[in-house]
Amino acid sequence: MHPHRRDPAPLSAAPIAARFQRIFAERGMPPSGMPVSDTPEPIPALERAQKQIPRLYRDAVADHPRVAAWVHTIAGTAEAPNVSARRQVTHGPSLLLVGRTGRGKTHAAYGAIRSLLGAGIDVRWHATTAADLYAEMRSRQGADPEWMLRRIIRIPVLILDDLGAAKSSEWTEELTYRLINQRSIHQLPTLVTSNLPVGDLRAQIGDRVASRLAGMCEQVVFTGSDRRRHGNAA
Ligand SMILES: Nc1ncnc2c1ncn2[C@@H]1O[C@H](COP(=O)(O)OP(=O)(O)OP(=O)(O)O)[C@@H](O)[C@H]1O
Ligand SMILES: [Mg+2]
Repeated sequence: MHPHRRDPAPLSAAPIAARFQRIFAERGMPPSGMPVSDTPEPIPALERAQKQIPRLYRDAVADHPRVAAWVHTIAGTAEAPNVSARRQVTHGPSLLLVGRTGRGKTHAAYGAIRSLLGAGIDVRWHATTAADLYAEMRSRQGADPEWMLRRIIRIPVLILDDLGAAKSSEWTEELTYRLINQRSIHQLPTLVTSNLPVGDLRAQIGDRVASRLAGMCEQVVFTGSDRRRHGNAA
């Protein structure tokens, strides 16, 4: 159990919204930084999502101003397929979250998903590390790798964590290219994290992927100290 974590509280929109507002106020951001919930509390989609989110990140909020701004943009472009449906993410910009280890990149990515759900947006999302994706795509145990890749290509919001951390090869480069190229041309919001400096990331993933990432992503740099070593005072 993380020393700074509270026991999970029952989820409802009001405390989450209050928490966002407090964080935005502390950071001098206007309350409009927080998308307003358009559903009555509680939010079943957020409660369901909690089970898919690793325990370490179940309290995460998009408290980085640039990530909060992204949440606001994505929530703003979400559209309801019909009058009785909740708004869904259809397209939007992506983020490349960079910084050394333990600076809060993965926390911010899950925080962004939770913030969107907390705002009442219907988000279909998936999270994977690049290394896990490659391993799953290599697996031959009854899985259909092409079907899996197509599903991840099309998911409305994707967290692609730790890009550049796995050993690269022509095969990983091609796979990453197919994923990023499709998400880039369809403008599907993708939260990419990497702890490599941008030059090293380019060398690791190849020019074609790096170029597309540069085109589709706003880069957000996470600084401070390693929160795993120094707690969350950073
Ligand atoms: N804004 C935050 N508020 C509270 N806790 C945070 C925050 N950001 C990160 N943490 C905590 O700090 C630790 C490290 O964060 P995280 O896993 O996101 O780092 P990272 O940048 O993804 O590191 P790596 O590059 O090694 O994957 C985690 O325990 C996380 O819950
Ligand atoms: Mg991480």
